[in-house]
This record gives sequence, structure tokens and C-alpha cells, in this order.
Amino acid sequence: MRIDYLKHKSVILKLVVITFFFGFALKLIFFHSLPQKTLLVMEHPFHEKTTNVTEQQNTLVSEHVPEIEDQLSYINTEKCDYLSGDWVPNPKGPLYSEDCNHIEPYQNCLKNGRPDREFLYWKWAPTNCDLPSFDPHKFLNAMRNKAWALIGDSITRNHVKSLMCMLSTVGQPIVLYEEKGFKSKTWHFPSYNFTLSVIWSPFLVEADIIEDINGVPNSEIELHLDKLSSKWKNQFMNFDYIILSCGKWFLRSAIYYENNTILGCHSCPKRNLIELEFTFAYRKAIKFVLNSMVSSNHKGMIFYRTFTPDHFENGEWSNGGTCKRTKPVKEGEMEIKYLNKMLRDIELKEVGNAVIEASRNGVNLRVVDFVPLSLLRPDGHPGPYREFHPFDKRDKNGEVQNDCLHWCLPGPIDSWNDILMEMVVNG
Ligand SMILES: *[C@@H]1O[C@H](CO)[C@@H](O)[C@H](O)[C@H]1NC(C)=O
Ligand SMILES: *[C@@H]1O[C@H](CO)[C@@H](O)[C@H](O)[C@H]1NC(C)=O
Ligand SMILES: *[C@@H]1O[C@H](CO)[C@@H](O)[C@H](O)[C@H]1NC(C)=O
Repeated sequence: MRIDYLKHKSVILKLVVITFFFGFALKLIFFHSLPQKTLLVMEHPFHEKTTNVTEQQNTLVSEHVPEIEDQLSYINTEKCDYLSGDWVPNPKGPLYSEDCNHIEPYQNCLKNGRPDREFLYWKWAPTNCDLPSFDPHKFLNAMRNKAWALIGDSITRNHVKSLMCMLSTVGQPIVLYEEKGFKSKTWHFPSYNFTLSVIWSPFLVEADIIEDINGVPNSEIELHLDKLSSKWKNQFMNFDYIILSCGKWFLRSAIYYENNTILGCHSCPKRNLIELEFTFAYRKAIKFVLNSMVSSNHKGMIFYRTFTPDHFENGEWSNGGTCKRTKPVKEGEMEIKYLNKMLRDIELKEVGNAVIEASRNGVNLRVVDFVPLSLLRPDGHPGPYREFHPFDKRDKNGEVQNDCLHWCLPGPIDSWNDILMEMVVNG
């Protein structure tokens, strides 16, 4: 118990220290120079309402857990610090090919005509420990009779597809459940009695999203910051492993509720409501979800995965931003965007508090923070190749929409599974 506790603590502390230095550098670079930005949110990436990051948010100071100094001694107790490392050449390449039928067309960069392939030949290598490649046999054997659920937005779905492609190299699953619109789905690997679910719940908390025929929200989302999403609240105790995450959906226009009472609204100028920052809801929702987990008596393992950074350069995704790089960058070469940092800081703070509380309650809650390693892979996104041969059908003036948020499959997020396997199979 004590050792587990220290282990948890050391993960948080490492995160805290890393964010602290990250944050410090960024504050110096960024603090006074951020323009007011228009942001679009991507799930149906390309027809969203815009929301503003206001000056007030730009001056929001990241919060750090105090007492770093006297706790530094715990930091080296974690078996593998997968957070610091480097992308190293991996001549073997990915475990699966673009023929994996679980890959969604939007993320099948190679089939969509992406010409360069170098981005496939890298592997995340932590500085101070070995990280074996994901081994589907070993994973499925270890997960015999277990049920997993990955709960979140389209990045979660992106991640699940990577895992599915890896697993289906050794065994074919059957589909147990499929929601209309394919947003939530459950697979079963009969030879291992292993069940894997992806549950679409981009806010984790209860959200009324009224969508038009194209799946685009056509009015403000109604967000209940003190209710778990009905998409998973009655099921989660049945899952042995849960990976929770959320992210940019919180930037959207939304009315915030607590105890069924309107608290205010984010980005709805036409309504006569108190304007609240999305960071308010982000923090509150994450805190509530994690507290619910902490007090749940869940006997398995719960991961909170931090939000992943986008890599739009020379613009955002609404105004011509692109991601044309073909190689990973080195640590320090690429700054984390202010917004991405802000979301991650909130997550690390809330999950840090919750992990400590969870270990007191005997709940196994851990954080997985893929931000540092994902940040170094600006080359891993579909860019224009979210569409099939995007440049064939356009005339020279036609604009091609880029996606620098989701990840090509195969691609860098395959390494996320190397790390998860290390955490669940080898401790
Ligand atoms: C952003 O906010 C400003 C001032 O609040 C407003 O004038 C502008 O129209 C907003 N832009 C968008 C895209 O919502
Ligand atoms: C299959 O796994 C589930 C848990 O995911 C378990 O409840 C069930 O008993 C298992 N079935 C067999 C035959 O072991
Ligand atoms: C929730 O609202 C009800 C009335 O609608 C009230 O009686 C109750 O005290 C409220 N609970 C909290 C925690 O605010």
C-alpha cells in the first residue's frame, strides 16, 4: 500500500515538475504575446461554431501543486519514466499496415495518398528504461477475461483503432455492440474472452448535444457539470480497465448546469446568461468525474489520459494551418501551444489531487500523459490526407482542409499502446 502510494505520488510529482519547468519557460516566451485567437473545435472538424479565447484566458496563470522541493526524493521510484525520452529510428516499422480494416478513412493517411512514409519508422524510447514494443499475444494473454473501456472523444476513438489494429494481427474480434453512427462500439476476442469498448462521451459528464443531420451541434450544448454521462455511468463498474479523457469539445458554446440549475454559459452572446470561461467547466467536470471515480470502490484500474496537442502551424485549422513536417522534432524544438498547455495544466492539477485521494481509498487511479511524447510528432497527423487523394480533385485554387489534431494510423499513437502495455502488464 505504502509503496503503491509512493509510486502514484512519484508519477504526479514528476508531472508536476515537468509542467513546472515547461510552464515556466512558456510563460517567459508566451505570456504577453498571444493574440486573440479564434478556435474551432474538431470532432466533425470542419463545420464548427467558433469560440473565442479571450484576453482573460490568455492571462490565466497555470496552477502548480506546491511543495515540489521537499518531495523531490520520491521522484525516482517509478519503474519507468516514460515521459522523458526521444523518438528513435525503428526500422521494423509498425505492427500493422494501412490494410487494417479498423482504420477510419479520415486517418488512413497512406491509403489517402500521403506520399512520405518516414513517419512510420520511429519508436518512443524513454531515456532511463527499456520500453518493449506492444506485443499483442502477451497483451491478450494478460487480459484474459478482462473488459476494457476507452471513454472520450474522437482522439479516443483514434487510439482505440490503433489498439484494435494491433490486436487483430493475432486474433479476429467479433462486434458485440455498435451504436448508430459508429461512435460507440464493443468488440470481443473470443479466444481470450477479452472485451474492448470505445464509448463516445466527449465531455465525460452528461451533455445534451443536439445535432443536425450532419452531426453538427446546432444549438448550445447543455452540460451538467455534476452528473456523469449516461453513456457510461451505469457501466463503468463492469470494466476492469478504464481510460478516460476529454479535450477540445469544452471550447464550444455551452450552457453549464449544476444541480439542474444554470450557472452560466460559454460563448453564447445572444443569451442573457452569465458568461463563463470554458476553463471553468473543464476544471469542474474533470474534478467531478475523478471524484466520482475515487469514491466508487472500483476494483480495476482507471487511467486518466491527458488531452493531446495539435500541431497546426502557420495558422489554426480554421484559417489555413498545416502540418507538413515529415520527421519528429527534438525536445525543446517545438513549443506547446498556449491553449494546449492550459488544458493540460488543469488536467494535471485535478488528476494529481485525485490520484492521492484514490490511493487513500484503495482505488487504482493513474494518469497517462502522452503530451510530452506526442508534442514531438508534428509529422504524425493526416494534414490534407484526411481525404482520399485530396489534391487530385481540386483545382489549383481549391482549399484543402488540414487535420493536424487526429493521428495517422499506423502512426505515432501506436506508441501509446507500448506504454499502456508496460503499465498494465509489467506494473
Ligand atoms: C470574438 O469576440 C469578439 C468580442 O467579444 C467578437 O466581436 C467576435 O465576433 C468574436 N469572434 C468570434 C469568431 O466569435
Ligand atoms: C469472460 O469475461 C468476463 C469479464 O469480462 C467474465 O465476467 C466472464 O465470466 C468470463 N467468461 C468466462 C467463460 O470465463
Ligand atoms: C439542489 O437543488 C434543490 C432544489 O432544486 C435544493 O433543494 C438542493 O439543496 C440543491 N442541492 C445543492 C447541493 O445545491
